[in-house]
Amino acid sequence: MNVNLTNPEGSESLPAVEQANVFDVTHEPPDLARRRVLVGATTALGTIGIAVATVPFVASMLPSERAKVAGAPVEADISKLEPGALLTVEWRGKPVWILHRTDEMLQLLEKDHQRLSDPESEVLQQPAYCKNSTRSIKPEYLVTVGICTHLGCVPTFRPEVAPADLGSGWLGGFYCPCHGSKFDLAGRVYKGVPAPTNLVIPRHNYLSDFKLLIGIDVA
Ligand code: FES
Repeated sequence: MNVNLTNPEGSESLPAVEQANVFDVTHEPPDLARRRVLVGATTALGTIGIAVATVPFVASMLPSERAKVAGAPVEADISKLEPGALLTVEWRGKPVWILHRTDEMLQLLEKDHQRLSDPESEVLQQPAYCKNSTRSIKPEYLVTVGICTHLGCVPTFRPEVAPADLGSGWLGGFYCPCHGSKFDLAGRVYKGVPAPTNLVIPRHNYLSDFKLLIGIDVA
């Protein structure tokens, strides 16, 4: 039996006994069998520990949750959404806003076209059935992804008209405080702000008067 105790590069400082344990692959010390049992037991316990630690994580990712993250449609109940109020639901990990517009809000949408960058929604930021004056299926409900088209911040909902901080020309809409982008109550971007396009309107569909399905086209 050849035992090579020549120090490999970088191992000079190790004591001889330790070197034998680390680098000697031919010599079997008397207690090797016992060590193998201990290593085997340690490995088995480690595997059990990993399995136990993994269970809660797997359980937390039930199929429906995984499907949502992957993009499955999401239902939204709007039966309690009062006129003027905004509901946020999550779809594909993003906030989707559902705004119940009042008659006054709808009238304001017609007032500011000259200050909007894309008032007719020519850029494909919405399905064809929402390329209209309200960017919606039903005029009273706006459904839009609540993410600024500049760098992805979440704008704030500012429905009030002419608040002190946004000026007398503000007719209600969404304001992104990150770099000052402004969108009207149809998610249309104003000229002269960093955001290049209107907010995205996701595919959606009404299952009933008060139930929306977000993420899938009109049947
Ligand atoms: S991310 Fe909204 S203005 Fe820049």
